[in-house]
Amino acid sequence: MTTEEKLILALDVADCDYAVELVERFSSHIETFKVGLELHTRAGSKIIDEIHKRGKKVFLDLKFHDIPTTVAKAGVAAVRQGVYMFNVHASGGQDMMMRCRDEVVNVCLRENIAKPRIIAVTVLTSMSQDVLRHEVGIQHSLKTHVRHLAGLALKAGLDGVVASAQEAAMIRGHCGRGFLIVAPGIRPSWSSADDQHRMTTPKHALREGADYLVMGRAILNSDNPLRAIELIRAEIAQA
Ligand code: C5P
Repeated sequence: MTTEEKLILALDVADCDYAVELVERFSSHIETFKVGLELHTRAGSKIIDEIHKRGKKVFLDLKFHDIPTTVAKAGVAAVRQGVYMFNVHASGGQDMMMRCRDEVVNVCLRENIAKPRIIAVTVLTSMSQDVLRHEVGIQHSLKTHVRHLAGLALKAGLDGVVASAQEAAMIRGHCGRGFLIVAPGIRPSWSSADDQHRMTTPKHALREGADYLVMGRAILNSDNPLRAIELIRAEIAQA
């Protein structure tokens, strides 16, 4: 995988025209753009089409979490939009993930569409051990919970997980080599933490076994985003 492919830019903006402007500005450095809740709620499928028109890939980050039928239908809708990757919450359970995977595989075969990578969110990188225990009510450790959810995603036949790179080595050991690890919560040494808690630098994340790095604010909020991308790419190349 090339450096361009490893770095996914989170288009965490509300305006479709501005998102398209960002895609155009960074398209020679970035292969895949992440469309999340805010942008998708505002712009809908238009932004996905606009990214595709520019020859780039889409990671649809809507974190599906609902009854199995609804998630499976949402997965099929994502397939028909031609996305490269989309995600579901592993805490939706094995049946939810399997039904989604099965429907996606069936529609891809029937309609001759490339199968997107389906990945599962384990525990959000903004969550701490304290919040997981005292607010969400999970009594075992955060790491144990991440390992359990990653194992469940593997059993359900998904392609990988979204997880903090702090857990990447453990997930790699538990789920094997081919299992994708997509790591958000990436902060180069020169950027600020914002609301993320379980962060790592790009170099450390890759050394721990992450396949993709999802980055938003460290690039978009920087005074010079292109320079920020260059610095991150240099760090990726070193790792
Ligand atoms: O700005 P920052 O680099 O923190 O953005 C991280 C992006 O990754 C956000 O779009 C966020 O929704 C997403 N994400 C995350 N943690 C997860 C899954 C996705 O931060 N577990």
